[in-house]
Order: sequence, then C-alpha cells, then structure tokens
Amino acid sequence: MLKSKDLLGLKDKTAEEITEILDEAVEMKRYLCGSERTSALLAGKSLVTLFYENSTRTRSSFELAGKLLGATEVNISVATSSVQKGETLIDTGETLDSMKVDFIVIRHPMAGAPKLLAEHVKASVLNGGDGMHEHPTQALLDMFTIRERLGKIKGLKVAILGDIKHSRVAMSNLIGLRKLGAEVHMYAPATMIPKNMDKMGAVIAKSREEAVEGADAVMGLRIQLERQNGGLFPSLSEYSRFYGVNDNVLKLAKPNAIVLHPGPVNRGVELTPQVIDGEKSVILEQVTGGVAVRMALLKLLNEFREKNL
Ligand code: CP
Repeated sequence: MLKSKDLLGLKDKTAEEITEILDEAVEMKRYLCGSERTSALLAGKSLVTLFYENSTRTRSSFELAGKLLGATEVNISVATSSVQKGETLIDTGETLDSMKVDFIVIRHPMAGAPKLLAEHVKASVLNGGDGMHEHPTQALLDMFTIRERLGKIKGLKVAILGDIKHSRVAMSNLIGLRKLGAEVHMYAPATMIPKNMDKMGAVIAKSREEAVEGADAVMGLRIQLERQNGGLFPSLSEYSRFYGVNDNVLKLAKPNAIVLHPGPVNRGVELTPQVIDGEKSVILEQVTGGVAVRMALLKLLNEFREKNL
C-alpha cells in the first residue's frame, strides 16, 4: 500500500513501496501485452497531463496508461492554455481540482513545482520530471527493465554515464537503485557531475572504463543541450570519443550486461548507433515497461485514494 496520495520523487518512497510498484507493473505488462485489454479499473476517474516542457514518452505513456485502465484522459497544452495569460500553477491546479480531476501528471522546468501543486490540490500529483530534481517514473521503469532482464536489483553494478549534473533521471535512479541494494557507479566530464553524488551513495569512477568494468547494466544519459550554457565539453564528437558508450567499452561489462537510455537519444553522442540498435540494448523495452509502470502507479494511487481520501 502506497503511503501518500502523490508520487513526487523516490526520495520519499520506501524500498517496500518501490517494490510494490514494480511487482504491480509485472501484472500490468502482462495485461498491456495481452489480447484482452478491457479493464474498467479506473472507470469514472479522470487524468490530466500538464506538461510545461516537451515530452514524447512520459506524456503519451501516462495518457495510454490511463486510457487502458478505463480513465478519462485530457491533455492540457500549456502553449495554448491560460498559463500563457499569466495564470499561476496553483490557480491552474485549483481549477483542475474544481473539475474533480483525480490525477494530474506534471512536467515542469522548476524543481519542486509538483510538490507545490500537490500541496494545493486534492488530486494525486505525479511528477513527470521537475527541473534538475527528480523523474521518478523514469527511474521506476528503468528498475523494472533491469529487474525483468536480470532477475534482481540487489547486488548489481549499474554504471551511469553522461550528463549527470543536469539529469533528474540520474538523481531518481541513484536514489531508487540504492534503496533496492544496487551499486551505482557514475562517470562524466568533471563539469557534468555534481560534487555531492558520493555522499548520496554513488561511486564516482575515475574513467569510463572503470565505471563499465564488470557492470550488469550500463545507462547512457542524454546530453541536455537545452539546460547548458555551453562550454561543459569541447565538442560533441570529443564527448562521444571520450565519454560515450561504444562496443569496445561494452566489452568490459559482464557478458549478459544490458544497455539502457531514458531517451530521447542523441544518436552517435551518448551511445553509438551500433550500441543503440545492438543486442544488449533494452531501450525499447524500457518504453514498454514505462506504460506498465505508469498503469501500476495509477492503480495503486487510486487504491490509496479510495481508502484514505
Ligand atoms: N525519458 C523521457 O522522459 O522522455 P520524454 O522526454 O520523451 O518524456
């Protein structure tokens, strides 16, 4: 049983709650990939997606997750909404609450925006990524994919390479993977790795090769050009050469290692095309798992709402 109405980050979720979500997602994936998709679990419930930043995967998979479980789903296009007339986040939230919306999925460039919204609405708020803070559903689907492929998370070595400093995915994965007992090794240019990551439980590798050596899972992170002012690395081709994941680097990982990337990928920068499309890549499995994980979350949060609100 989840312990709160919202999913704001993995920092405030216990290992038991995370495991419950992953277990439920196993059932949801079976349903998603089956031929009978007629669930009315969320019939009469409504879901709004409120994205202040672009998205393909997170937004559409939440929309699909809601629809597949029988909820009514509405997307608010921030670019054409009253946000453009200066409406505040809280006023937008209270407006949605007045429409008796049950779930609001929000992506916002400001860290903490989902929490602020959650404190002002009765609806359950699900964080679809806030600034450089957290992206909890991405980490949950990453953990789901790792556990599905490798059978467990505890004791695994997970290497995370790339733009860690600007990455809410890295933050949520570090928190979640550590809670479930994995070792998280990180490597990036010195300009792309915050100083406190070791205090949060990460092992900071001295080289890309050290990070990947013996790894069970290797995760490349997108270079977030939109969050940078430039000057963090000399050029994209040098980034790829010295910090990217290619087949040679992957030879250092365990023979059955998998390669993850949250997407969208800058092809040829974080990962070579051969790695993206290679046999170790589980990037598209992550996407399928993302729908299952989001279905699981909606189901479990709905149970919380029915018992507690
Ligand atoms: N991984 C991820 O958040 O992708 P989108 O930006 O497409 O939602």
